[in-house]
Amino acid sequence: MWSYVNPVRVVFGRGRFGELDALVNGRRYGVVTYPDAPFSDLVDTLARLTGNPVAVIDDVAPNPDFMQLEGQAARMAPVARELDVIVAIGGGSVIDTAKVLAASNGGFATVRRFLETKLGSDTLSNIPIIAVPTTSGTGSEVTSWATVWDAKAGRKFSLARHGLYPETALIDPDLMLGKPRDLTLATGLDALSHALESLWNVNANPISANHAVAAARSILKHLPPLLDDLTNIGLRAEMAEAALHAGLAFSNTKTAIAHNISYPITLGWGVPHGVACAFTLPLVLRSVAGVGGFRAESLTAIFGPDLEAGADRLADFLTRLGVGLRFDDYGIPAQEHRRILDDAFAGERGQNFAGSPERLKAAAARSGVVRGS
Ligand SMILES: NC(=O)c1ccc[n+]([C@@H]2O[C@H](COP(=O)([O-])OP(=O)(O)OC[C@H]3O[C@@H](n4cnc5c(N)ncnc54)[C@H](O)[C@@H]3O)[C@@H](O)[C@H]2O)c1
Ligand SMILES: [Fe+2]
Repeated sequence: MWSYVNPVRVVFGRGRFGELDALVNGRRYGVVTYPDAPFSDLVDTLARLTGNPVAVIDDVAPNPDFMQLEGQAARMAPVARELDVIVAIGGGSVIDTAKVLAASNGGFATVRRFLETKLGSDTLSNIPIIAVPTTSGTGSEVTSWATVWDAKAGRKFSLARHGLYPETALIDPDLMLGKPRDLTLATGLDALSHALESLWNVNANPISANHAVAAARSILKHLPPLLDDLTNIGLRAEMAEAALHAGLAFSNTKTAIAHNISYPITLGWGVPHGVACAFTLPLVLRSVAGVGGFRAESLTAIFGPDLEAGADRLADFLTRLGVGLRFDDYGIPAQEHRRILDDAFAGERGQNFAGSPERLKAAAARSGVVRGS
């Protein structure tokens, strides 16, 4: 028995940014984006088409953090009640910031309390969001949660509510043409991680699995040539569609162990989210042999019948793209390796993992991915 739900309307294709005006449809809107060009130009274009926004929050930095969100929510507060819709133009950090602001009901304290105590759900607001991703990675345009970082305390939260599903995801591959190589790599690997993490997941279902297979096969095929040909719009469109499939997959499962391993590595050693998630994927794949059922069929559809050989190929794929596979490659001291692995299994996403923790830990030690006892 299973169920699948995703209420987001998806508008996909080159040049469709021009339809944003029709999607806003005369409503009073706020914009969330990054501070610099080309994003400021996109905001200007939208304003010319549809009138000025009621509020502009244009200082989003990578990995939305408590400190920054507090100031942004305070600036949004005076007009929050006038807003009919929030337009988020940017990557995961922008869309997740928009989700926090949509829920903040005039101040970050409401969201903070909810994140820290799980109390006060009824005090949060639900302003609709139009998500316009400029990266092909996070899938946040079709998920109902936002990753919120508290770097000062070394913590990471997930703000998760059904009301945070954007009303529309407007995906225009033209907006992704300017992404530099490192960002293209990290975001592509984030999408690959979402696809695979949705498969070795206790919440997987046949619909999420089909999306995951489509996503992973496409990323393995299209990401390497794209990294050598960054302005190839055909490959950009393939990656945008693959990241969407991955988003639709994990929107119903959440992520699993590779993501849980990644969070302290991003917080402590500044490794970009997608790379921090992806470098343990071969290791995780080695530990899920024997998982059975449609999960195994899906992994076989991606990697062939021998998953151990598939894990070797996945390791080669990452190495050829310049991704190190060992904790040592990221400067993580040996005494932290085991602690990060052990802690990762304790959290919710660790418990989503459908494979065997013992096998994973044994494979990690055997392959030299982690050191120490
Ligand atoms: N909500 C979810 O479901 C979900 C899932 C995965 C990750 N996340 C979160 O999303 C964040 C990562 O998002 P991201 O990887 O999309 O990157 P990002 O939004 O953090 O942006 C990283 C950098 O890329 C630049 N950039 C973005 N689009 C560009 C473009 N088209 N051209 C040139 N530069 C561009 C930005 O200016 C920024 O400096 C993390 O905080 C992560 O935890 C959320
Ligand atoms: Fe992710």
